[in-house]
Amino acid sequence: MIDLRSDTVTCPTDGMWDAMYKAPVGDDVFGEDPGLNALEKKVSGMFGMENGVFVPSGTMGNQIGLKVHTQPADEVIIDENAHIYHSEGAAGSLISGIQLRPLPGNRGVVNCDIVRPAIRTRNDWDPHTRVVALENTSNKGGGTCYPLEVMKELFLLTREHGLALHMDGARIWNAAVATGTDLREYGALCDTISVCFSKGLGAPAGSMLLGNEDVIKKARRFRKILGGGMRQAGMLAAAASYAVDHHFDKLEEDHKKAKKLAEAVAESPCFDIDPDHVETNIVLFRVIRGSEEQALAWFDSKGVAMIPFGDETIRATFHFQVSDRDLDTALDAVKTYTGEEKSHP
Ligand SMILES: Cc1ncc(COP(=O)(O)O)c(C=O)c1O
Repeated sequence: MIDLRSDTVTCPTDGMWDAMYKAPVGDDVFGEDPGLNALEKKVSGMFGMENGVFVPSGTMGNQIGLKVHTQPADEVIIDENAHIYHSEGAAGSLISGIQLRPLPGNRGVVNCDIVRPAIRTRNDWDPHTRVVALENTSNKGGGTCYPLEVMKELFLLTREHGLALHMDGARIWNAAVATGTDLREYGALCDTISVCFSKGLGAPAGSMLLGNEDVIKKARRFRKILGGGMRQAGMLAAAASYAVDHHFDKLEEDHKKAKKLAEAVAESPCFDIDPDHVETNIVLFRVIRGSEEQALAWFDSKGVAMIPFGDETIRATFHFQVSDRDLDTALDAVKTYTGEEKSHP
């Protein structure tokens, strides 16, 4: 099966297994895992940030990111399509006692015009706004990248109001490649960034929260409290490090393949998509002939798995384990879909 359901479905390559097998390990809760220490130094350096803490998942990275900036009864401004809002089980209310303030952005991107009016005054009865949380790229937005100018304006707005800026950078690697942005430019504009090694980079697990020394000191404590202290996690650090070194550059290929699929989808009378909206490795398109269910079943019968994304929308996501041949198969599946019930399974 050609698996376009997500970029989280990749399996370690031989080179990655080898790196994991040979990884030196130690007890990371004591700060003694050499591979993890090196990874935290390497990745925080890539973003020009002071330090980082390795966590098991992007969800934990985001939630600790919110925890370090907030007190219970604070509010976090966020786009209404954000992963933190939709797909982290309302963890912010459970872990940090905070409220999220979802705002309608453009394909997952909010700007100052949208955020400014949502920043509250400090009356006793107001929730206190503490954080603006951005997602780059935006998953539900269709892999959209934050324009750096928009980020800069939002950064200045947060400074003006004494707010923290957290970025869910699960796919920041894709954004950097697609826009030609140096990772340090993102680092300079954020108080915390959560980056994932297990999306397009292809590591089996692991994320990292980046920030200044104070924030990361606090974050290490919350990681332990949440059960994210993993002891000899050096083999995961080795996979993540290998992924950064060997797979970061491959993301451009994923973006090209996504664009090709988007163009084929655009040519079909059965689907609706603006291929210009496909900036990275995620392709969202609506089914306008037949149904989402029917189209997914058709793709499935051709050996291509995609996922339903609500409102007759389908998501296809590219990763380095989708070959050129796989892409051709997916293109063929798109081109041969007719939307007529009887010709489809
Ligand atoms: C944008 C975004 N942020 C965070 C996450 C959470 O990552 P994890 O599944 O590692 O918790 C995901 C997962 O797909 C995501 O797409």
